[in-house]
This record gives sequence, structure tokens and C-alpha cells, in this order.
Amino acid sequence: MFRARRYRVLVVFAAVLVLAFIHFSRTREPPTVTLDVPPPVDHNRGSYSPNSNDEPVPAAPKSTPQIPQSEGATKPGTSNEQTLENDVPSKQDEPSRASTDGQKKPDSERPASQSTLKWKKLPEQHPVAPEEMIKLPTGKSKSLPKLQVAFPDEASADRMKRIDRQSAVLATFQHAWNGYKASAMGHDEVTPLRGGYRDTFNGWGATLVDALDTLWIMGLEEEFSIAVDQVKKIDFTTSKRDDIPVFETAIRYMGGLLGAYDISGHKYDVLLEKAVELGEILLGAFDTPNRMPMLYYRWKPNSAIAHRANPMSVLAELGSLSMEFTRLAQLTKEDKYYDAVARVTNELEKFQSQTDIPGLWPLKVDASGCLVSKHDSNHDFPREVPQSEAASTSTPTPTESAMPLPTDAQSYENLLSRRELDDDAQPATYDTVPENSVPKAHGNPTSTTKDSEQYCKDGLTNPPGPRQFALGALGDSTYEYLPKEYMLLGGLNEQYRSMYEKSMDAAQKHLLFQPMLKDGRDVRFMATVTKPRHESEMTYAYEGEHLTCFVGGMFAIGSKLFGIEKDLDIAAKLTDGCVWAYESTVTGIMPEVFTLLPCKDEPCVWNETEYWSALDPFEEDRIARAKKLSEKNAKKEAKKDEVVEAKANSSAPVSHGSHQKRDPARGNWHAVTSPTDSSKPRSGDVEGRDSTKSSTVSIPSHEEFVQARIKDEHLSPGMLRIKTRTYLLRPEAIESVFIMYRLTGDEYWREKGWKMFEAVKKHTWTNLANSAIKDVTVEEPIRSDSMESFWLAETLKYFYLLFSEPSVVNLDEYVLSTEAHPLKRPVY
Ligand SMILES: *[C@@H]1O[C@H](CO)[C@@H](O)[C@H](O)[C@H]1NC(C)=O
Ligand SMILES: *[C@@H]1O[C@H](CO)[C@@H](O)[C@H](O)[C@H]1NC(C)=O
Repeated sequence: MFRARRYRVLVVFAAVLVLAFIHFSRTREPPTVTLDVPPPVDHNRGSYSPNSNDEPVPAAPKSTPQIPQSEGATKPGTSNEQTLENDVPSKQDEPSRASTDGQKKPDSERPASQSTLKWKKLPEQHPVAPEEMIKLPTGKSKSLPKLQVAFPDEASADRMKRIDRQSAVLATFQHAWNGYKASAMGHDEVTPLRGGYRDTFNGWGATLVDALDTLWIMGLEEEFSIAVDQVKKIDFTTSKRDDIPVFETAIRYMGGLLGAYDISGHKYDVLLEKAVELGEILLGAFDTPNRMPMLYYRWKPNSAIAHRANPMSVLAELGSLSMEFTRLAQLTKEDKYYDAVARVTNELEKFQSQTDIPGLWPLKVDASGCLVSKHDSNHDFPREVPQSEAASTSTPTPTESAMPLPTDAQSYENLLSRRELDDDAQPATYDTVPENSVPKAHGNPTSTTKDSEQYCKDGLTNPPGPRQFALGALGDSTYEYLPKEYMLLGGLNEQYRSMYEKSMDAAQKHLLFQPMLKDGRDVRFMATVTKPRHESEMTYAYEGEHLTCFVGGMFAIGSKLFGIEKDLDIAAKLTDGCVWAYESTVTGIMPEVFTLLPCKDEPCVWNETEYWSALDPFEEDRIARAKKLSEKNAKKEAKKDEVVEAKANSSAPVSHGSHQKRDPARGNWHAVTSPTDSSKPRSGDVEGRDSTKSSTVSIPSHEEFVQARIKDEHLSPGMLRIKTRTYLLRPEAIESVFIMYRLTGDEYWREKGWKMFEAVKKHTWTNLANSAIKDVTVEEPIRSDSMESFWLAETLKYFYLLFSEPSVVNLDEYVLSTEAHPLKRPVY
């Protein structure tokens, strides 16, 4: 309570500052560059960043002013459903969000006295007995199959071209690094337009630590040692922020330190020392009755917070701590770090076959350990319920070409109505079980309710509310880490292999689909499936999402590592899907999230009629409503006074400002009333906003309507809707392109990767560094003054490695974490 109030004040304060800033900056500068919007601080992956102010309003189905920005930096991320996110009992999740967004300004101005409180190691409340400690597997590592192909010798012309390209990447990195150094050294992120910094990750210097190993890999050893000197100054035992986002901290900071330590040949002891300092602190998050981590760790010694994991824990945040903690355990020979993550793996493994889609986990997981025996028995498989339902939802198709039942307009509708569902998501609480989350038939409880509530020692189970299944935001790196952790452990733990195989079988059966594209390109994407609470039907959202683009690389690695030959082809098609998405916009950059029309038949052939009807799925309804609207407007002209009453009276989104209406089923309504309404190309296109005016004039035909949508929303053939138009400097697409190149040697990927680099460089460049952009579908996108640390840690590293010799960060010697930190694999 107290906290919430305090943040509200901070938010208001920040808003006032921002407004003042806007005001003054506007008077001085022409608005070409974008100071007018508070930068979307999207932290990653687990988080949702409000982009309500964002410029280019996504067009049609604008049902949701708050389109969930999927973020996730890498992958974990970000959420496709901000609603779920918001519902989280704010103990853990919310503060972080509030603080990252709202605090920006206040942070730097806060009195230093705030930060004197230090983290202290306290006696554990729920210690693991020494004899129960799960130990690192011992023994001789297995000899695992080689990932990289044997590259032939390089012709000298090829070499020159490659080195030119590599130098261009290097120069871009140096430019951005120098900008960070000059303007934000020691802080989390540089603000690449106006200069200065932002502390989004506890202010320990996220960009500094995240970029360390990239400096080394690029041969900038002098810079590296300057940076290491800075790292010495970091004090992880204190922070202005009350909580530590465990996942982000593990992947960016701990991964950054360990990657730098490994790649630089263990010569800089301070890197490991700092990783240990951080590891000790983060271990505190695992001190819960069931040893599942509190993902937003209240680190202050006097913080009287119940030591329990969240009943709405984000899957990616829960499942992607394994590599960093394992590597720390290996380097320090301290089993306790491994024990912490091994317990999570064990619970994930148990839960894996008991979900609505066995093999996949819901994007939110109840990790509290308190509710299991109440609303789903974790230990006694409730066979009837989830399995039969899951089975009924998808047609069993041959694995090769498997795709879920596509239903064009229907799926479009489902997609849109999904949002409503999300709105219903019930906040979970520790003490009460939401009635409706209790399945009617469930297995026999293993323990009495009382016991489990009291001790909260159970494992993972379904969260209250709807469940979603996807490989992108919020889920991503939990899947990605299965084969990678297997490699890091030298193949000595078969759990990861079997979990990977089960999950990817399920993903191929339930999520994989081929979109219908005009050029006939044979690519694949991964859908998002939602299991609503009360109905047995699953609903499908056929989306392309930047965060999901890592899957191509994951399938390629899994294919080679586990000898699943057919998966290499799927890997190529998944990767090429993202390449296609880059190529489909004027900027040459893929939008953050968009929807596609899945193909019904084999072979998949472009059918314009079908595409158009998916773009105008409610044609009849639309025309009927448009007529009504016309009449109403006519009436309005006549009797202006009655407008207010009529508006209140009508439930249909007929009145002006219809684009504000939350009405998913008719989300694209405003496009009807005014086809130009959504076009909104950069500069002050004000006139298109007068939607009521044009609506009285004419009712667009099917063709007019469709053409208007395509034009106004900048849809490339095959795309139905662009839900989020940003590019946040994300790495996932180039990550898969790089892995495909190293694993196949096919020059196709280098060429595609180079085009991506040129496009990204061109549109994100600022005088200081590089900036996220707001709309990849316009020729001159506005920059949003944000450069997340993964730009230097991942995106530019992958571009650089694509043009390196294959021996640089050889994937048979290193395994790259989800933040692209190279961890040394065991030698065999
Ligand atoms: C395209 O789709 C429409 C509607 O589904 C169908 O009637 C038509 O036969 C299809 N055209 C071709 C060439 O398959
Ligand atoms: C409000 O709705 C009712 C019932 O739908 C209708 O009879 C009435 O005329 C409406 N009033 C106005 C002002 O439109």
C-alpha cells in the first residue's frame, strides 16, 4: 500500500517533468526527432511497456489503445498480455514496472541517503539440508555432435568483402559504445538522442556489464580493460530500487560478468568476484518454502515480505536462470548455485506433462507452492481434464507440415476476442483460491489443504485465469535454455534433452504454421494458443513476433545436437520467416508484432479472395453499422443537443472517436468510418482524424475497405494487422540468421544478415549511438530515445560474428546465453 502510493507520487512527478520538458523542447526544435514521447522503457522480457503515447497508432483493430508491447528483450518477455501482467499481485511484479517507468527522472534526483541501505546475508528461513543439496553432475562430459559445419577455405575476394562488412559492424559498435561512455558510463542505458542516461536495471551499469564480452570479441582490449575498471566500482549490495528483477539481473549482469570472464581466458579475477557477489544476493530470492524463486526480490534486510514465489510467475523468468547459475557453480565449485536452478528444472519437468498442452508450459505459472493440491494436482496427474481438451483442439497432422486448424476470419475474430479474455484474468492471491480455477474433476489431493497452505511446499501449477502457450514473449528462453543447458552440462543431464524433445514436439504440433504469402515463400511462424477459463476450446492467434525469432536458431541447434534431422529444415523456414518480415517493410525492419493468415491447404497457394476476406471479416456487419452511423450522423446534424444522450445510449461504436472504443469484435471499425484515419504518416496529418465527417459521405465497399486498410496500415501482402510497429534494437532475428550460418555454411544467411544490418543501421543511427524506432512501416521512422543494453550485448555481437571467421566464438567451444554471453563448454 505504502509503496503503491509512493510510486504514484513519483509517477505524477515524472509526468510533470516530462510534460515540462516536452513543452520547452518543442518551443526550440522542430519536431523531427522525437522528444515528445517519453521513451518506452521496455525492459525486457518480462515486462510490459506502456506505449500508449506512441506515435503511429496502429491502425485498424484498434480495440486496444494499450496494445501489449511485447517486449522481452530477448525473449522473455514481454508480454503479450499486459492484462495478465497487471493483475499480478503486485508484491513482486509491479514495483519493478512502476519503478522503471516512473522513476526515471526522480531517480537521478533522489537524495543519496536513500541508497545507503545495504543487502545483508541473513540466515535462511527455508534452507536446503546439506545432504539434500543437488550437485553438479560429475564425470566425463559426453562427446556431443559438432554444431558448426566444416567451413572450406575462403577465397580472397570473399574475405575482403567479409572484412569490409565486419568493419562496418565494428564501427557501429564503437560509435554506440563511445556514446554510452561519454554520456552514461556506469549507468544502465544511454539515452541516444538527447544524451544522458536512464537507470532501468538497478543502476549498476547494465550496458557496461552487458557489453563487456562484445568488447573483447571485437578485439577492443583496451576498452575492455577500462570497462573492467569500472566494473570494480559496482556495488551490487545496494540499489535505489526496492526490488531486484532476478531474471534480468541474471541474464544481463551475471551472464555479462561470466561471459566476459570466460572469453577473456579467466585473467580478470574481478569479473568472477563480482559474479559471486551478485550470486550470493540472488540466492536470497530462492529462500522460499518450495525453493521456487521470488522473481522480484525484495532485497532490503528489513523487508517484511512473505517469502514465497509468485502465483503468476512469468515462465521465461522462472526457467531461464539455469545457465548463469550453473556456470557460476562450475567456476566456483559451489553446488548451491546449481541446486537453486536444478530445483526449478525438476518442477518444470514434473509440470510439463500436466498442462493443457502437454509438453508446453503456460506463459504464467503458479510457483507459490500454495495452491497446487487445490486447483490442480501436480503430483497426481489429472488425466481426464487437460489431456482430452488439448487433444480436441488441434487436428493431428503429419508432423512434418503440422499446423493448427486455421480458420481465417474465425481466427481473426478469436485473436481479437482474446483481449477480452485477458481482461478477465483474475488477480491471484496467496490466501484465496479463485473459485473458478478449480477444475471440477481433479486428481486426489496429495495433502490436505491446510497443510499445503501453511507450508506452501508444492511445485508448479496452472495460474488462475486463462492460460496461454507460445514460444515468444514470456516463454522464450525457458525453451531456448533446454538444449543450451544440456551443452553446458556436457550432456550429463538427460532431463534437458527429454524436456526439449517433448516441448518441441508439442510446439510443432500445436503452434507451428505456414502463413499464406503472396510471393509463395515457404516460411513458418509460431502461433500463440489460449486456453480460456471456462470453455474447452483453444483459440489461436497467428502471429509473427520479433521476440519469437530466436526459435529458428534453437531448432537448428536442437537438430544437430540431438540428431533430429527434419528439424533443420524447420529451422531454416522459421528463420526465413523473420527474414521475410524484415523484407516486407519500407525500412527493411520487422515490426515487433503482427498477425498473419495461416494456410489451410497443402500446397499453400496465395488466394487474394481469402486474404481480402480476412482483412474485412465482418463485412456485412460493418456495412449495416455504417448505414446506421450515417443515419445517426444525419440526425445529429439536425438535433445537435441530443448527441450526448444518443452516445450514451448506443452500445455500438458509432459515435465519433470510435477508434478509442474497446470493442475488439469491431476493432477495425474506425477504418470504416474513415479510411484515412489510421494512416498517420509521421508529420502532422491532422485531417484524417475527423472520422465522423467522411462517414456520412460514403460506405466503403469491400474492395475500398480492404485497399484502404492495406494502404493506411502499410500491410504487406499476407499481413492482416500490425499490432506493434516498433523496433527496439532487438537481436532475435539476426541471432537465428547467425546460427543458421554457422551450422549450415549457407551464404544465403550472410547476405540476408547484411541487408538487415544496413537497414537497422540506417534507421536507428543517432549522433550518439543508436535508438529504438517507433514505426518500421514508414520511411522515416521517429526515434524513441532508447537503447537497451542488448543492442551492444547481442544485436551487434551477432552481426559481427556473422562476418567473423567461424573460429571466433566457435559454437562447439562456447554456448551463448539468451543475452548472447559466451559461456565456456566443457572440453571433451
Ligand atoms: C480462394 O478462396 C475462395 C474463398 O475461400 C474460394 O472460393 C476460391 O475457390 C479460392 N480460389 C482458388 C483459386 O483457390
Ligand atoms: C435509446 O435506446 C432506446 C432503445 O434502444 C430507444 O428506444 C431510444 O429511442 C434511444 N434514445 C435515443 C435518444 O437514441
